[in-house]
Amino acid sequence: MTPSLYQRLGSAEGIAAIVDDAVDRHAVNPLLAPRFSGRDLPRAKQMGTLFFCMGAGGPQTYDGRDMRTVHAGMNISEQEFIATIDDFVAAMQGQGIGAVETNEVVAILYSLKGEVLRL
Ligand code: HEM
Repeated sequence: MTPSLYQRLGSAEGIAAIVDDAVDRHAVNPLLAPRFSGRDLPRAKQMGTLFFCMGAGGPQTYDGRDMRTVHAGMNISEQEFIATIDDFVAAMQGQGIGAVETNEVVAILYSLKGEVLRL
């Protein structure tokens, strides 16, 4: 049986490391930093990790707010959306994740575009 994306990303520990790294990148990315300044980053990391684990096929349950509700009123642009995905790609490269897995994650993130953009 092919291991799930969750397993191939290193399960909860591996995904937590990716999300930690990506959110740290958001905080210093000139395209994104203003959005994250003053936010509760540890909480965003924790919620983001749960969401990611569940989305990758892990046993976790994300019981936070849905993506439309979280991002409503932010009027997030296409450029910002791409910048978050770029930070995730850089984080995965930094964690030694392979190209196949990285592309799968990019596809999942992209599929959520309508739930975060221009709301
Ligand atoms: C596919 C893309 C994205 C996904 C899957 C995603 C997912 C999430 C998740 C799971 C949370 C935590 C939920 C919570 O705090 O209750 C969150 C929070 C947040 N997201 Fe996103 N996000 C995406 C794109 C973006 C973009 C493009 C921006 C802005 C440039 C953004 C800005 C934020 C901010 C500022 C928070 C913190 C909200 C708060 O503290 O209340 N997100 N996101």
